[in-house]
Amino acid sequence: MNEKELLEIENIELQLLIEAIYLKYGYDFKNYTKSHLKRRILRRVKLDNLKTITQLTEKMLYDREVLKQILLDLSINVTEMFRFPKFFKDLREDVIPLLKTYPSINIWHAGCSTGEEVISMAILLKEEGLLNRVNIYATDINKKVLDIAKEGIYSIEDVKKWTKNYQEAGGKKSFSDYYVAKYDHAIFDQDLLKNVTFLEHNLVIDKSFIDANLVICRNVLIYFNKELQNQVLELFEESLIPGGMIGIGSKENLKFTSVNEKFESITATTKIYKKKIGC
Ligand SMILES: C[S@@+](CC[C@H](N)C(=O)[O-])C[C@H]1O[C@@H](n2cnc3c(N)ncnc32)[C@H](O)[C@@H]1O
Repeated sequence: MNEKELLEIENIELQLLIEAIYLKYGYDFKNYTKSHLKRRILRRVKLDNLKTITQLTEKMLYDREVLKQILLDLSINVTEMFRFPKFFKDLREDVIPLLKTYPSINIWHAGCSTGEEVISMAILLKEEGLLNRVNIYATDINKKVLDIAKEGIYSIEDVKKWTKNYQEAGGKKSFSDYYVAKYDHAIFDQDLLKNVTFLEHNLVIDKSFIDANLVICRNVLIYFNKELQNQVLELFEESLIPGGMIGIGSKENLKFTSVNEKFESITATTKIYKKKIGC
């Protein structure tokens, strides 16, 4: 069999695996980018010493643990505190003053992973005197990462690396004021998480559940194809109050999407937008 035929078969096998995950367990990855899916699934095939994607499909159908592993493989959870510090600096300078005009504030972190982005936001809100007025809903498709997020405990090595991000984001205190170092871990002040609700929520199939003043969804849309990006952005648009704001990842865009007309840009490089009044 030549390489072209092998590739064709591999693509068919991948399609069958995605369909099988959907039919057996209800997780819908049909509109994730094919290159991302293929890379991650072939990696799993190799790690499990299997010969083909079909062998993985068979294991997954009979064993929920294999499905859990595939879910972990497909959801890249890489994150950090004050990731892309300019984003948080712009939040502080351009978004916080607008949020301050509301008596109570709902923020939705969609695809929050292990919670670093949520703690960063809580620190920012605390420094700006807003933490007590805010309800933060932090959601992810993956229960395992949410369990880590709820703890607020991270490796001290990572936390030290994130100190620079905090300073570049305009942090007003010393980063170490927010955590206690114990052995090789940093335990963050639980007060930061007191207004945070962690929820399992799948952006592909679950509905809107709040009237949000601010939605943060960074480095998630990048894994979705155009059709799914539109669907998820429509969900965010529906969840935002008029004048509500959305922040997306630096490699993501509202341009050429179905909601583009409904938003105006607040910051260009950091991709923060405001929903137009009357939309
Ligand atoms: C790369 S992380 C981004 C974390 C954080 N927002 C950041 O920018 O640092 C992507 C997260 O999106 C989540 N995710 C992927 N597909 C999802 C879906 N359909 N619904 C909700 N979350 C999803 C993954 O589980 C993962 O935790």
